[in-house]
Amino acid sequence: MAEREPIGVVGVGWVGLVTAACFAELGHRVHAVDIDAAKVEALRAGRPTIHEPGLDDLVERNRERLAFTTEIGEALDAARLLFCCVDTPPTHSGDADLSRVRAVVDRFRGDGGHALVMKSTVPAGTGAAIRRDVEGIAYVSCPEFLKEGSAIEDFMHPDRVVVGGDPGDGWASDAVAELYAPLGGEIVRTDVASAEMVKLASNAFLATKISFINEIANVCEEVGADVTEVARGMGLDERIGSSFLRAGIGYGGSCFPKDVSALKQLAGNTGYHFQLLTAVIEVNELQKRRVIGKLKEHLGPLAGKRVALLGLAFKPDTDDMREASSLVLAARLQGEGAIVAGYDPVARGRAADLLPGVELCGSAAEALEGAHAAILVTEWPEFAELDWAGVREAMAGPLIVDGRNFLDPRKVSAAGLVYEGIGRSEARAGAAVEAAQRGG
Ligand code: UGA
Repeated sequence: MAEREPIGVVGVGWVGLVTAACFAELGHRVHAVDIDAAKVEALRAGRPTIHEPGLDDLVERNRERLAFTTEIGEALDAARLLFCCVDTPPTHSGDADLSRVRAVVDRFRGDGGHALVMKSTVPAGTGAAIRRDVEGIAYVSCPEFLKEGSAIEDFMHPDRVVVGGDPGDGWASDAVAELYAPLGGEIVRTDVASAEMVKLASNAFLATKISFINEIANVCEEVGADVTEVARGMGLDERIGSSFLRAGIGYGGSCFPKDVSALKQLAGNTGYHFQLLTAVIEVNELQKRRVIGKLKEHLGPLAGKRVALLGLAFKPDTDDMREASSLVLAARLQGEGAIVAGYDPVARGRAADLLPGVELCGSAAEALEGAHAAILVTEWPEFAELDWAGVREAMAGPLIVDGRNFLDPRKVSAAGLVYEGIGRSEARAGAAVEAAQRGG
């Protein structure tokens, strides 16, 4: 096998660690840098600090090619391409906080021999600003599109790889395009600003799809339709597509909330009012809160009522709690005086600090014991397999709110429980499942 280009990765969070492990799997020697010494220590010992399917094995299998360090200089000595994967959290104003990116740039040698490859999600214009500030820096924008929970699969089988470079840095964008060539996805070569915009626009569009279908769900509730049927009927039109049309209690995570607000701010900073995104954000916020209304309709005042949250992570197959709907729900329920119990198969450790006053349980059964109502917040597969007759017996009341339209409503109601989905009533949901089965 020809010698593969060694690479450096700065910031070993989700994107950085997956990038490092996957490039190592492809045969590259990877020098991965993080300022968090404890994290680096854990990774050196072969213990990834995040839950991502397949990642432990990948790190273990490629230990020889993966070097973890706190010294950025080691990566710069060994590699000419340095992937910047540090996080860009939102500031109070909604803009992206670029201080960590700036800290990486400050350590960078603008010697013409190194290129900074930006994977962190940054506002359009960041690349141009960095090139202005650091003389001689070679800069490539290579935004990341992986999803938590299927990050390795997404990396290894990309729909597309976007490589943005400006004239003068041709060698660097050629080198980055070459790294990804074996993966087979279409390589989209653009200028830096367009590559930055592809990332922001893609996340904003997906978030828009979710808020759109959530509004349709809310209308379905009024007109007696079932949103899962509506989404199925819409999604078969290939101009629309079926993905990201799952109605529920809103999107969360480290990306959509932050990136949608960052794009809105970016537009606002130029004097352009991005009205559509303002609505997308507002719909998402209200969607989480609507669940409280559903509970009150059934239970009356929530003071003293025990409510179980099934799932706490922002989506299944991750322990990531950033911007998870569970955080808003727990706070709102506690605000109404309810007693909140929560269970998540993997996010319990992370949840402890984030959900003060919530009783964190070791199993779904424990959370459901004595509950007047349960809300399915995260669609972990184990919740579909619950023994609903046993659940009915253990609960003090019969209400199950399926915040992800994930459960089989017939199974839930056959056990004597009351099923409430999002944009579908118990009866309509049952009929819809039957119709779908008839249609094969
Ligand atoms: C998202 C994008 O999907 C990735 O392409 C992108 O790389 C990533 O952000 C990023 O910018 O780093 P991620 O946040 O991991 O990935 O998760 P998604 O699977 O996109 O889900 C985001 C949220 O939307 C979750 O809370 C999920 O429950 C919700 N969602 C998703 C819906 O409510 N309905 C849907 O139909 C799909």
